[in-house]
Amino acid sequence: MDSHPISMDFKGMDIVSIRDLSKEQIDEILDLSERMIPYAKGERLTKALDGRILSNLFFEPSTRTRMSFESAINRLGGRSLDLGNPSMTSVSKGETLADTIRMVESYSDAIVLRHPHEGAARLASRFSEKPVINAGDGAGSHPTQTLLDIFTIRRNKGNIDGIKVAMVGDLKYGRTVHSLAEALTIFGAEMTFVAPPSLQMPKETIKQVEKLGGKPKVKTKLEEVIPDVDVLYITRIQKERFPDIAEYQKVAGTYRVDVSSLREAKTDMIIMHPLPRLEEISPEVDSTPHAKYFEQAFNGVPVRMALLMLVLGGEL
Ligand code: NCD
Repeated sequence: MDSHPISMDFKGMDIVSIRDLSKEQIDEILDLSERMIPYAKGERLTKALDGRILSNLFFEPSTRTRMSFESAINRLGGRSLDLGNPSMTSVSKGETLADTIRMVESYSDAIVLRHPHEGAARLASRFSEKPVINAGDGAGSHPTQTLLDIFTIRRNKGNIDGIKVAMVGDLKYGRTVHSLAEALTIFGAEMTFVAPPSLQMPKETIKQVEKLGGKPKVKTKLEEVIPDVDVLYITRIQKERFPDIAEYQKVAGTYRVDVSSLREAKTDMIIMHPLPRLEEISPEVDSTPHAKYFEQAFNGVPVRMALLMLVLGGEL
């Protein structure tokens, strides 16, 4: 058994934005995530969160985020409650998010919320005494994805300071890159944002990155960045967020990485993707040493285990 104490600083904390966490706190979460790996794989067993209940409220589709949170609480000996399909709940009768949250708070010890509206998790956190974890709020942010992304980079690259990261694809509507850009700046990575002009990183995120001392470059051509980068972070064009489908059709399929496009990449360059992918990464890339997106998806379990341990005050 490990005997290191688990930090009490996080107990009861909401994780709504990556800005809620300092660099030291992120490091602490990632260190604990490292210790969670054998438990996440089922090689070691624990009842650290025995009797605790986590509520999953997903008002948008999800595979990895929902299932890795469920796996995480189960691996820790706790249980999860799932709202299920919102159309089968009182939400379809017109219940407000605030009222739903007040109920769910009384049924569980922490709430994971994914919602189509930006700011929904912040609103929910005001109505709940129990920790609220943002699992994606519209085109806003996705802080737990950022933690597992940083964890994946740290495990593969050792150090984040000074590494070159290109974020590619839908940087406007893709929420994962919004929180990731801020976090990577705090860790000293150099970033290039590669997107069609209509899908570039929002001005607000660029301003925040600059305020934190980052000097991101903005580009449209993927081939220009491939030889230079250590991490290629590719995203899906977020079809569901386009107000006009004709606008989506103009940019769909803009970027596609296949084996031939990687010819000039550094041998240790890694490719990440929050998934699901459409055509932006050809399946032939999966068997190259660059592909880290499935490892990244697995990392969602130890990282979310660490987070649950911290906010629920579990002990190993
Ligand atoms: C992402 C999301 O939901 O923002 N998926 C995820 O959580 N791994 C990315 C996406 O949907 O494209």
